[in-house]
Amino acid sequence: MALPVEQPEELELEEIEVELLLEGIFRRYGYDFRHYAPASLKRRLRRRMYGEHVETVSALQERVLHDPAVMERLLLDLSINVTSMFRDPMFFLAFRELVVPLLRTYPFSRIWVAGCSTGEEVYSLGIVLAEEGLSDRVRIYATDINQAVIDIARLGVFPLDKMQEYTQNYIRGGGTRSFSEYYVARYDGARFSRSLVDGVVFAQHNLASDSVFNEFHMVACRNVMIYFDRPLQAHVHSLFYDSLAMFGVLALGQKETIRFSPREDDFEELDAAEKLYRKIQ
Ligand SMILES: C[S@@+](CC[C@H](N)C(=O)[O-])C[C@H]1O[C@@H](n2cnc3c(N)ncnc32)[C@H](O)[C@@H]1O
Repeated sequence: MALPVEQPEELELEEIEVELLLEGIFRRYGYDFRHYAPASLKRRLRRRMYGEHVETVSALQERVLHDPAVMERLLLDLSINVTSMFRDPMFFLAFRELVVPLLRTYPFSRIWVAGCSTGEEVYSLGIVLAEEGLSDRVRIYATDINQAVIDIARLGVFPLDKMQEYTQNYIRGGGTRSFSEYYVARYDGARFSRSLVDGVVFAQHNLASDSVFNEFHMVACRNVMIYFDRPLQAHVHSLFYDSLAMFGVLALGQKETIRFSPREDDFEELDAAEKLYRKIQ
């Protein structure tokens, strides 16, 4: 089959065709990408068109709607899964210093990691909770739109060649033990201790269309909403507001903020630099 003549970056995508594709995906599969930021969305559509050897968005739509395997591949392209352990180490330092003391005030608490990708963030939080003696008193719920990444998260095997970088991150994030205590090196990668995720509930959840499913004392949703447009961000801020207990903490990514959101006044800054907010009303 012939490849498209143009390079993916050069293809101009018809606005209306993109809208129809996203609408079709929503109706057929329930995945709602209608409010994802257009520039990055189009870049990823172009990539999938190239991968599927089609030249128009309509042709891609035809494939996606008739072949769930194509939808699976598009989903992987659209849900950017880049992540790492102790990503933005200062955030984990702030979590230890500001959030852990709040969690200690509850006999039992729940953290929702929304958009957990392949789980590196969940294992990082699990390590901090273990070191702070809170493993038995805090339950993590880890969700993502993409079932494939959740399956990887459950396994807890991460690339061995990342361990040096992760060890540095761990130390910068306030870790004082030997990071290698937490995993064993195997031929297939660094296999992290099961005990770190013993009580973790892994589940599929779509922030654009699914609703509140529990009450949480912290919601961490980092580096997910950068891909959403303003209305979808506002929708998800409300979802988190409704999911948090009073004085519960919302953690966003470095490039994300609750400021300028209709929910802004419902939160106060706990740590402005590390994007930690607390529900106050
Ligand atoms: C860049 S990763 C962030 C991973 C991790 N939170 C971190 O900061 O390293 C973004 C994740 O958000 C997920 N995601 C994208 N849209 C979503 C949605 N509507 N509902 C739930 N998760 C979504 C993607 O599948 C992806 O795994």
